[in-house]
Amino acid sequence: MNNTLFEQSLAALRRGLPEPETADLAIVTGSGLSRLVEIGEDEESISFSELPAVGQGAVAGHGGRWHIVRLGGRRAHVLRMRRHFYEGVAQSQVIAGVRLLARLGVSRLILTNAAGGLSPRLRVGDLMRVTDHINGQHRNPLIGPNDERNGPRFPDMSEPYDREMGELIDETAREQGIDLKRGVYVALAGPTYETRSEARLWRTLGADAVGMSTVPEVIAARHAGMRVAAISLITNSHVRPQGPTTHEEVLEVGERAGRRLLRLLQALIPRLPP
Ligand code: HPA
Repeated sequence: MNNTLFEQSLAALRRGLPEPETADLAIVTGSGLSRLVEIGEDEESISFSELPAVGQGAVAGHGGRWHIVRLGGRRAHVLRMRRHFYEGVAQSQVIAGVRLLARLGVSRLILTNAAGGLSPRLRVGDLMRVTDHINGQHRNPLIGPNDERNGPRFPDMSEPYDREMGELIDETAREQGIDLKRGVYVALAGPTYETRSEARLWRTLGADAVGMSTVPEVIAARHAGMRVAAISLITNSHVRPQGPTTHEEVLEVGERAGRRLLRLLQALIPRLPP
């Protein structure tokens, strides 16, 4: 990571957002899910173009601003943009948002994403809480010299998703009457969607859903000692494909089923312990 760009980005957040250090929770929104910013009252936001460590992505469906949102006495960062491996950017750019959150003192991170279903249990429109992941990108964002201020050289990854947060999410979903599945997420490089054989391969290797994000961010967040949860919205199925997978379909299902995810997060956030 270029330290100057990182420090400039941190300064921009401190300048552009009200008391960013007192919001201890963050949400990163996936494809078609940027409406999750409506989770509460929008206090202030700044454009990712002001954060050179992250840079401005170009994929439709990602909103492009970093918000602070207030919800029932709680303040949360909502990042309506993320960088992906397939954009050809450095891994340090993919995880810069999470590193900035860590430096601002954020201790809990909820990542959302759009994913393709590999398990026959998953249907289009389902929400799946990620219980574990497989890094199928064959890249690790921590490769390179380790700055001990970010975390240890060899971080444990045996339980990346916080158990307590996971149980609270399950309980909240139950109370809200929201059907929430659980499963393993595999992150692939993309940007192609999977061939039928690839989908079968990853299913055989233990994945329930496939996407192109989240895992690098989870690795960086765990490195920094954050508590992490992730929820996938199943936008297409590789078991019962309705024809070719398209980005438009992913965005459309995100818009439709994203409302349930919004409701789940709205009920969850006030209940999260500090
Ligand atoms: N594969 C990879 N990424 C995705 C998919 C998929 O089927 N659906 C949404 N994101």
